[in-house]
Amino acid sequence: MTAPLGKDLLGLERLSAEQISLILDTAEPLKEISERTIKKVPTLRGATIVNLFFEASTRTRISFEFAEKRMSADTVNVAAATSSVTKGETLVDTARNLEAMKIDMVVIRHPSSGAAQFLADRIDSNVINAGDGTHEHPTQGLLDLLTLRERWGTLAAKRVCICGDVLHSRVARSNIWGLKKLGAEVAVCGPRSLLPGAITELGVHVFDRIEQAIEWADALNILRLQLERMTGGYIPSLREYNRVFGVTRERLDRAQRDILILHPGPMNRGVEIDSDVADGPHSVILDQVTNGVAIRMAVLYLLAGNSPRLADAAKGG
Ligand code: CP
Repeated sequence: MTAPLGKDLLGLERLSAEQISLILDTAEPLKEISERTIKKVPTLRGATIVNLFFEASTRTRISFEFAEKRMSADTVNVAAATSSVTKGETLVDTARNLEAMKIDMVVIRHPSSGAAQFLADRIDSNVINAGDGTHEHPTQGLLDLLTLRERWGTLAAKRVCICGDVLHSRVARSNIWGLKKLGAEVAVCGPRSLLPGAITELGVHVFDRIEQAIEWADALNILRLQLERMTGGYIPSLREYNRVFGVTRERLDRAQRDILILHPGPMNRGVEIDSDVADGPHSVILDQVTNGVAIRMAVLYLLAGNSPRLADAAKGG
């Protein structure tokens, strides 16, 4: 098995279209494993993976853990709040101590942009970025791409609008890179206070009104307002935000065509998305979650090809 992704998965910006397609193509058949009664293959038997989470997570942490367990890896979860980080230990010291216990891979979520790269440059284990600050969340971007590709067959010339708090969103950045590399047209829509100043340099359209975005798009990827990262008055109120930018059934119905609805979660129902949209016929939000396990299995499998020891185990799978 070759090592087509290199040592680490840090972001989609640095991956080629071929590498992204390889991950999606690898993930697709892996979905079947999660449908089995006994959801386990021996592919990563012998591998030790640490899930190092310095920020809260439901979907990403649990689906990485399922992916690891379904491929028979040994996994350990480390939450910053219950580790020696609370006593002042640095990220690198934490990781080096884990490496001294002979681990193979680290999955890291961290509030600082660049933390995954920082770690990858300093340890020998494979590093997978599970979301770093406002930089990237590559496996979320990949699972969004897989969900759209499943529905459409191809992303080429499809129009995807990323709506809401783009400023604080690592999901937005990974989506923009991934979608554009696979040939989609990308737009963003939100209040100017929640769009990065240089957003057009990424080659995306900008809509100031959600009605224009809905008119244009084949899919909306609706982002959570990240209130915990907001230190100033970015929006007048949640109620005002919903009134002006909320994706409502009434607004979607006016488009008179099917528009796929994605949301990375967790959702603020009644703020950026109304419940009858989130739970409605065009929502693929739970498909995203299902695909997240397969994408993470694919990434683990492909990165294992970088390690001679793990590659041998993977061949046996
Ligand atoms: N989409 C996502 O990253 O969700 P979690 O924060 O629950 O992992």
